[in-house]
Amino acid sequence: MAATNKKKSILVVDDVPNTVEVLQRNLTSQGYTVYTAFAVAEAIDITKTTPIDLVITDLKMPRVSGLDLVRHVRENLKDTEVIMITGYPSVQGAVEAVKTGVEEYLAKPFTDEELFSAVDRALEKLRTRQINHTAMLQTPHTPYGFLGESEPMLKVFKAISKAASTSATVLISGESGTGKELLARAIHYSSRRSSASFVPINCGGIPEGLLESELFGYVKGAFTGAIESRAGFFQTADGGTIFLDEISETSLNMQVKLLRVLQDRDVYMVGSNRPRKVDVRILASTNKNLPGLVKNGLFREDLYFRLNVISIELPPLRQRGDDIVLLVHHFARKFSEEQNKTTPRFSDNALKVLTDYHWPGNVRELENVIHRLVVMTECDCIKVPDLPSLMRFSALREPDLTRTLAQVEAEYIRNVLASLDGNKTKAARILGIDRKTLREKLSKIDTSLGSPEPDSI
Ligand SMILES: Nc1ncnc2c1ncn2[C@@H]1O[C@H](COP(=O)(O)OP(=O)(O)OP(=O)(O)O)[C@@H](O)[C@H]1O
Ligand SMILES: [Mg+2]
Repeated sequence: MAATNKKKSILVVDDVPNTVEVLQRNLTSQGYTVYTAFAVAEAIDITKTTPIDLVITDLKMPRVSGLDLVRHVRENLKDTEVIMITGYPSVQGAVEAVKTGVEEYLAKPFTDEELFSAVDRALEKLRTRQINHTAMLQTPHTPYGFLGESEPMLKVFKAISKAASTSATVLISGESGTGKELLARAIHYSSRRSSASFVPINCGGIPEGLLESELFGYVKGAFTGAIESRAGFFQTADGGTIFLDEISETSLNMQVKLLRVLQDRDVYMVGSNRPRKVDVRILASTNKNLPGLVKNGLFREDLYFRLNVISIELPPLRQRGDDIVLLVHHFARKFSEEQNKTTPRFSDNALKVLTDYHWPGNVRELENVIHRLVVMTECDCIKVPDLPSLMRFSALREPDLTRTLAQVEAEYIRNVLASLDGNKTKAARILGIDRKTLREKLSKIDTSLGSPEPDSI
């Protein structure tokens, strides 16, 4: 256990005195300062007067549940982490807890080791959060971790601060990997709702049959198996923000239900016809062209208009000019620090290849490429041959129409080979020629091009 964790303060909350005692003894023996409470109200009182780094709370307690304590901590105590203990590992309990913001979870019975490592992880998370927060305040060009100095990104940052000052619905569009989720978080965390929950929902990832009850919750007896009422994401996000990611993936049927929420802010739990008011800000994202889907009858026009109150479009990375270089260095620094390596430099030619590449997967693709480079490369300067081959070959492409058929053929053959990691048998099959012909063509290409210079494009 890290020495810096020793003086951290932990509040243990459980209605069973025996459990409290055991936890207190174990944690004190590890050097933590331990406070105890037997009910949620008592725990909240302690947090008012004593700075607490970590709360370890039981889920099931008479009167007020541990989840309410979690909610209180999340909303009011930014510098406190939570671990939830549950007597019986129920999936539903876990889902509820995670939605409320619990990241660590201990199912009874647990060993001392399990307890200590959960405490370690939670305190480590707290430390990272505090470091990130300080770093964010120190770096002027990374509002909410968003990097960019290009003209189109400065416009996006302006749009974020405008959107954050209202509670209007925002439609975020952009190709995949452009930072739509990051943008949604930026709006939430710079809005007045920042202390309440941000609840992202991957609309394409939840099966159609489950989406409605996940979103709106259900009442007891709504269907077989609904033995008690359960809140949905909309209730969890009350006071906060819901992010409907990839909204175009919802069915037309679901779109009608979302429209109702957007119009009246009324939520109907599955199995109930009593509307309940919720105070939720809605952000939605799409990487598809919604007006196009509306035209083809795949997306409801009225819902589109309701979502599109404020519209923010994230430009593709290839249109962000020097931001590419900025991001390359940012991710190189980030991943090197993670790996305890010195941050590599990039040769001018390597940077040119990276800037000229068309980045179909945008920032996410760039992040992955740099991650791999940092992991795989041992030298302190990354040069063109270190870059993924597809990227090098696409940089070879000339925009003019002056190349001979032989040159075009050579480039195509190399691209196919590169995409197959040099597997000649597979390449020959794709090219529709036999291996022998491929070998002959390759030796001709090699003689005409010569071997590449160590750092030439
Ligand atoms: N401008 C930026 N500065 C720093 N990191 C960024 C930036 N934009 C995106 N990222 C990072 O790139 C990755 C992809 O971003 P995000 O998930 O927000 O994109 P997305 O548009 O939602 O992608 P997808 O369409 O694949 O869901 C994340 O790791 C995010 O932190
Ligand atoms: Mg996304």
